[in-house]
Amino acid sequence: MTKPLTKDDYRPDDVTVHRDPVRLNRVIRALRNAGRNVALVPTMGALHAGHRQLIREAQVMQNTVVVVSIFVNPLQFGPNEDLAKYPRQFESDVDICRQERVGIVFAPSAEDMYPKGAQVTVHPGPLGDELEGVVRPGHFAGVLTVVSKLFNIVQPTYAVFGQKDYQQLQLIHRMARDLNFPLDVVGVPTVREYDGLALSSRNAYLSPEERHHAVTLSAALTAGAYVSSQGADAVLKAAHDVLAQTPEVEVDYLELRGVDLGPAPENGDARLLVAARVGATRLIDNIAVLLGEGDEQGE
Ligand code: PAF
Repeated sequence: MTKPLTKDDYRPDDVTVHRDPVRLNRVIRALRNAGRNVALVPTMGALHAGHRQLIREAQVMQNTVVVVSIFVNPLQFGPNEDLAKYPRQFESDVDICRQERVGIVFAPSAEDMYPKGAQVTVHPGPLGDELEGVVRPGHFAGVLTVVSKLFNIVQPTYAVFGQKDYQQLQLIHRMARDLNFPLDVVGVPTVREYDGLALSSRNAYLSPEERHHAVTLSAALTAGAYVSSQGADAVLKAAHDVLAQTPEVEVDYLELRGVDLGPAPENGDARLLVAARVGATRLIDNIAVLLGEGDEQGE
């Protein structure tokens, strides 16, 4: 039998911060028993307007308690990546959650998420080794492992992710399907700055000059999408031409794929994806394109 909730477990009028996965799971089960839906917004903190949009999307669902998880997941960072310097601003993240009327912030410790001796991880399959996986081996195993743990702890009805991390979103869709997680994965369009730069916590690393160059990524994608009616070669050429104008942007890949990240169709819906380094910062972005059948495309 589940114990009744106290104001330390859940307050309908304020955000409650939970750190202990076992206790949170008990609270969630009580909320579900009381007929509430639960929407999970997994994050690594450093919340920005893109996260606010994910939270707002989660709020749209009826009768729902929104849980935002804040956890900088060590398992998804490679040895030479930015784990130590990843932006951490817990108090202001909680303030943002309060402003957005989030019900619960779940902020576990690394020790609670990965107790000593934990060895089992989720294997993403071949898509995990492509695109981002080429440059970041093991990254998606880390992402899927933490997301599957969050799904088990939070037991959400819906889980909301941004389309900016498009490969991540596709892999999470596949994981939920292939491993029978009983929930809906919702993808939310990318939020952009006034000039098109996709919002990302890593934008904080950019110097003013690098910030100026970084807009090239979204400009290249838009140029590609603009000529999508002329087919794949035209899309890639247009995007390459824009990227070539800014040598400060070092391209890792520019690829046109199907919406499920299989091969792009000759006609129909596809996705144009780019990853590049601007100074020491690695940025990714992507856009929807309608090959051969439309004129101007956007997200
Ligand atoms: O997209 C992110 O912020 C992270 O990859 C996620 C999904 C929270 C898992 O750590």
